[in-house]
Amino acid sequence: MTRTRYSTVAILLHWTIAALLVWAVLLAWSAEDLKGMAKMVPLQLHKPIGITILLLTLARIGLRFVLPAPPMGEHLKRWEVILAKSVYGLFYLLLLLIPLLGWATVSASALITRFPIDMFGLFDWPVIQPLFDLPAELRHTRHEQFEAAHKLLAKVVIYGLIPLHILGALKHQFLDKDNELAKMIPFLARKDSAA
Ligand code: HEM
Repeated sequence: MTRTRYSTVAILLHWTIAALLVWAVLLAWSAEDLKGMAKMVPLQLHKPIGITILLLTLARIGLRFVLPAPPMGEHLKRWEVILAKSVYGLFYLLLLLIPLLGWATVSASALITRFPIDMFGLFDWPVIQPLFDLPAELRHTRHEQFEAAHKLLAKVVIYGLIPLHILGALKHQFLDKDNELAKMIPFLARKDSAA
């Protein structure tokens, strides 16, 4: 039978990742306003949240192979399908790359032994050993490069993908009134619709 909405696990993963993403970004922004070691308070929470996003995104991608996404509405124009698929694909890619770059940034940081990636008091997430083992000067250069890439890609998500994704969802809900959003928010499903 063809699915008319995402599976419950996919819906839970989608909204958990979205909430964690907002939380990670707010913590990172609050760190920017702080000076010196005070920055480390929000950043110490930012790190395990980011690692959790990495793990949940891997689970989300794995789940897509087991339970494929419901098909896109046949009424959608070609450009809409291409745009939507590109945004989804980029989301998955960047939600893997950004936390990996964050992990690389802190693995190459001189502060990692004082401020490990503490997974909510449960255990310390390991460092990427080859980065940790680099000679001090090269390690510092790599740290700066990974941090710059981490921040740049985070901006692409915050100012590019998230607004596009939300605008697309609102267009379907209020202009097209085509029930696409109900695939991810089941209680929005219109009773008069077949989907
Ligand atoms: C999807 C997950 C993540 C998102 C969306 C994210 C997003 C961000 C953002 C928006 C910033 C601030 C950018 C700016 O100042 O312009 C930031 C900074 C930072 N992130 Fe992440 N991040 C994620 C995962 C991680 C992970 C897993 C780690 C490390 C384990 C990490 C470590 C850092 C560090 C150390 C900084 C701050 C650097 C500084 O200002 O000194 N991030 N992140």
